[in-house]
Amino acid sequence: MKVTVVGAGAVGATCADNIARKELCEELVLLDIKEGLAEGKAQDMMQTATLLGFDTRITGSTNDYSKTSNSDVVLITSGIPRKPGMTREELIGTNAGIVKGVCENILKYSQNAIIIVVSNPMDTMTFLALTSTALPKNRIIGMGGTLDSARFKYQLSQHLGCSPSDLNAVVVGGHGDTTMIPLIRFATWNSVPVSRFLDPEKQKQIVNDTMVGGATLTKLLGTSAWYAPGAAGAALVESIVRDEKKLFTCCVSLNGEYGQKDICMGVPVIIGKNGWEKIIDYGLNEEEQTAFNKSADAVRSMNDVLKTL
Ligand SMILES: NC(=O)c1ccc[n+]([C@@H]2O[C@H](COP(=O)([O-])OP(=O)(O)OC[C@H]3O[C@@H](n4cnc5c(N)ncnc54)[C@H](O)[C@@H]3O)[C@@H](O)[C@H]2O)c1
Repeated sequence: MKVTVVGAGAVGATCADNIARKELCEELVLLDIKEGLAEGKAQDMMQTATLLGFDTRITGSTNDYSKTSNSDVVLITSGIPRKPGMTREELIGTNAGIVKGVCENILKYSQNAIIIVVSNPMDTMTFLALTSTALPKNRIIGMGGTLDSARFKYQLSQHLGCSPSDLNAVVVGGHGDTTMIPLIRFATWNSVPVSRFLDPEKQKQIVNDTMVGGATLTKLLGTSAWYAPGAAGAALVESIVRDEKKLFTCCVSLNGEYGQKDICMGVPVIIGKNGWEKIIDYGLNEEEQTAFNKSADAVRSMNDVLKTL
């Protein structure tokens, strides 16, 4: 197994670190446009190998895509992150060109790779990766809902006073402060609906705190978060390379599912060796479907911006 992480910044390096610690592949390539950054981080990580006990071989590359050849999975984390007060959508002007160029370069050397898009605005960058590469749709996965669902579980755990691992909860829709939809109706604490323990007011607060989870961290950190995004990217890689068939919310191409088509949005999918393998229909009620449609409208307008760039 060979995995490439494009972008050796905060998210890319954290993701690579998680992949190496879990020994998800024999070979891991970190690539960045900034001279020496990927090589430096790769070397630094390799120097943890004897301390952490992993055998993954990590190498770095400054924009030399031949080093990434025959990758099974490629994560795209290159691009600018948001600063406090910015929305993810404001990044499109810079990141669209970066993501498109990266996809072209990746495909020159790894025609069979599964691509995981992390760069924001993620739903639109996933749509761009799909339309610009014309790869089979199952091989293009946007990472957003996986992170948002982990943040949702964190928020729930804080109010329930329980372990986040005992919770099941998913966030669908777009990966934006106003477009994501934490499906609290389906959230359970070891199979018991969380609504049994949380009054409607509390539930509303949890949903709101989840939606602005990224913005809250950006305000605290002065830049976008990286530990949970990196871990979420690595969790998807794990489900692919080990063919775990785990259920994650990922941004994928919809063709009528959840009432939408010609768009990439976050829905629950099975992730395995073929990429995203199946969309799971949660059966949204009218209110949830209305929110999903509204979210799709916002993602679609962002996708339309691509035509103007
Ligand atoms: N989808 C999600 O859930 C999620 C979560 C967090 C961050 N993000 C996004 O991930 C992206 C990266 O965030 P970060 O905090 O790691 O930023 P960062 O600035 O720390 O790292 C980005 C890296 O990309 C590199 N880069 C820029 N152009 C490149 C190119 N053409 N080729 C290769 N490398 C290039 C930069 O040199 C930099 O090292 C941002 O767009 C951010 O908004 C997404």
